[in-house]
Amino acid sequence: GPMHAPLRHDSAHKHVTGTADYIDDIPEPIGTLHMGLGLSDRAHAELVSIDLSAVETAPGVVCVLTGEDIPGFNDVASTGRHDEPLLATKDVQFHGQPIFAVVAETRDQARRAARLARIQYRDLPHWTDIDGARDNGAPLVVEPMVLKRGEPQTEIEKAPLRIQGSMSIGGQEHFYLEGQIALAIPGEDEDIIVWSSTQHPSEVQHMVAHVLGIANNAVEVRTRRMGGGFGGKETQGNHFAALAAVAAKKLKRAVKFRPDRDEDMTVTGKRHDFRVDYDVAFDEDGRIHAVDATYAARCGFSADLSGPVTDRALFHADSSYFYPHVHLTSQPLKTHTVSNTAFRGFGGPQGVLGAERMIEEIAYALGKDPLEIRKLNFYGQQGSDRTATPYHQEVEDNVIARIVEELESSCDYQARRQAIIDFNANSPVIRKGIALTPVKFGISFTMTAYNQAGALVHIYQDGSIHLNHGGTEMGQGLYTKVAQVVADTFQVDIDRVKITATTTGKVPNTSATAASSGSDLNGMAAYDAARQIKERLIDFACRQWEVDRSEVEFLPNRLRIGGEIVPFDTFVRAAYYGRVHLSAAGFYKTPKIHWDREAGRGRPFYYFSYGAACSEVSIDTLTGEYLVDRTDILHDVGRSLNPALDIGQIEGGFVQGMGWLTTEELWWDAKGRLRTHAPSTYKIPLASDRPKEFNVKLAEWSENAEPTIGRSKAVGEPPFVLAISVFEAISMAVASVADYTVCPRLDAPATPERVLMAVERLKQMG
Ligand code: MTE
Ligand code: MOS
Repeated sequence: GPMHAPLRHDSAHKHVTGTADYIDDIPEPIGTLHMGLGLSDRAHAELVSIDLSAVETAPGVVCVLTGEDIPGFNDVASTGRHDEPLLATKDVQFHGQPIFAVVAETRDQARRAARLARIQYRDLPHWTDIDGARDNGAPLVVEPMVLKRGEPQTEIEKAPLRIQGSMSIGGQEHFYLEGQIALAIPGEDEDIIVWSSTQHPSEVQHMVAHVLGIANNAVEVRTRRMGGGFGGKETQGNHFAALAAVAAKKLKRAVKFRPDRDEDMTVTGKRHDFRVDYDVAFDEDGRIHAVDATYAARCGFSADLSGPVTDRALFHADSSYFYPHVHLTSQPLKTHTVSNTAFRGFGGPQGVLGAERMIEEIAYALGKDPLEIRKLNFYGQQGSDRTATPYHQEVEDNVIARIVEELESSCDYQARRQAIIDFNANSPVIRKGIALTPVKFGISFTMTAYNQAGALVHIYQDGSIHLNHGGTEMGQGLYTKVAQVVADTFQVDIDRVKITATTTGKVPNTSATAASSGSDLNGMAAYDAARQIKERLIDFACRQWEVDRSEVEFLPNRLRIGGEIVPFDTFVRAAYYGRVHLSAAGFYKTPKIHWDREAGRGRPFYYFSYGAACSEVSIDTLTGEYLVDRTDILHDVGRSLNPALDIGQIEGGFVQGMGWLTTEELWWDAKGRLRTHAPSTYKIPLASDRPKEFNVKLAEWSENAEPTIGRSKAVGEPPFVLAISVFEAISMAVASVADYTVCPRLDAPATPERVLMAVERLKQMG
């Protein structure tokens, strides 16, 4: 059947021919108005006075909105903490915070008018980074999380060897190709429809209702597709949707809000920067005895998703390694910057990177290959005494040793590493490095309630199928995968299944499409709906044909009922006349999971996804520039729902991770102004940056030990972490200038400047 087949993305042809409709492609209702934002140009200040007279009288301006004009609550905090106003009123807390919004006949007029405000501020002290936050005793935006097992303090003192260090890890801009956008269309009474580029239509619905002071049932939110989300549209679409909705209701006209790229990059949150302070104790073999580490994060001015993001950093601070004794603390620091948010991996990659740095420290201290230290510290197989995570969940499905072993041999790691060491010995300027790094990524929302999903399936009289579910499509291929599940259930061709825009009117109370769980959750919910209809169809066939259940069989696009073969559409029409209910709502909730944050104990994850990557790089020790010569990946997606889409996710996730760890650097000036707010200064990977040789394979023997849809595993985020292999390969190339005797302690991103500085530093030490 269609499940497990490498079908192409349902919109692949539309993407490349430009016929896929994004929100800006929807024909605008007559009289549609457009919005622009007035932004703070202080990082932290009291608002003394706001004079908008010149804005109001500018050409084309229809109205100006401030915080006072919000009919319901001037609040879009997704956490319920009321720490994020839609428009600032009393004070501003970051450079670029929205203070007012302009509605005008054209987008250009709205944007020009927004520049004419005269605002008086009284400056307050500000800090924009982790150092500044610590120096100023900054508050935390949420309660920190602590994970503890064993006796870390005593064991650290007792162990033969010990290293303390600190690593800085940069943030990341999402750089979705389609920016944030919302189109609000007012209806009668309180009703409103909002098209939103969001990963979380239900939250946009609740937020629009909240700011308008109306009931959820008056608001319908629709999302056909996003041109990328990457976590940046999990909460960050709320502002645009809410403002467009307030304006549309007030003016009784359709209102579209599409910020330009600079504005989008300035006013929306990013990946959290982290500082990891670690204290790791180990023995002469390189076995870890105990770890004590603090994960501080630049959260920005409000909580947003910083709680779950910093939690997930701690959940991945073990990478694939067993820490016999461990103490981990998060430090979610408030800074006067835009509030940071979800980004592919959700804090997990930062957690893993800290762990891999500790491995490097041990390896360079002992003069060993980091891969040897990795293997020595892997979690054990089920039944061993090395399976407990710092959060007291047992690792039950461990395949990391097998994945790493297979990759190590298929990519010829050992011979290539030796060849590189030999090459470096005779190469004064160009140096090479190689690294093989593992991934173990926990799957489920750590907020247990989010692990639920709904779906709605109809079969029409002609046998065509209509599918709707709570998941959103952002390019990852979720719609295709879920359609495969439904087509497979009825054994029909995928073309018979119409995938319809996600809407809060068809499936309510959905979770964000996030945490890589889109196909796990919605695939199961859709299967539940399709299965119910299928049951009714089988009952009908038994009645009508007077046969036994065992004599009804779904074959490709037809049924065998007793001795008769009936085309699927003929059969469905007969079922309609037999008054069979051809529509069903499905539901799914993930079993087994529970989490007690206070106690730091539970089973936050249903299962783990695994993978490994080996990357080889060359660096120029005179300029710090580098190339990725080759990457080999072996990744575990269980029994793949769609190998073509999964390989695409692995390639994309890896390259996006490479960008994070190499060229993408966010930079704020002393005034707290983000200076890297356009592609001229913010460098995402180009086609020419991809590994020159790039081999991606799925672990075809893998099958999810848990009964997930088709025994598959989630794929969206875990491959992002594979890019750490590039970072560590660069680190090895740098280490060569001091004969591999010192850990280079590279901070991320390893921009050419940072690589060059590390080379110079090590030259002096070596
Ligand atoms: N792939 C594409 N093409 N575009 C995206 O925006 N987002 C990633 C990942 N892959 C993304 C993507 C993120 S952050 C997540 S959580 C998952 O897709 C979400 O989708 P899934 O749960 O269906 O895998
Ligand atoms: Mo993905 S960061 O969970 O949207």
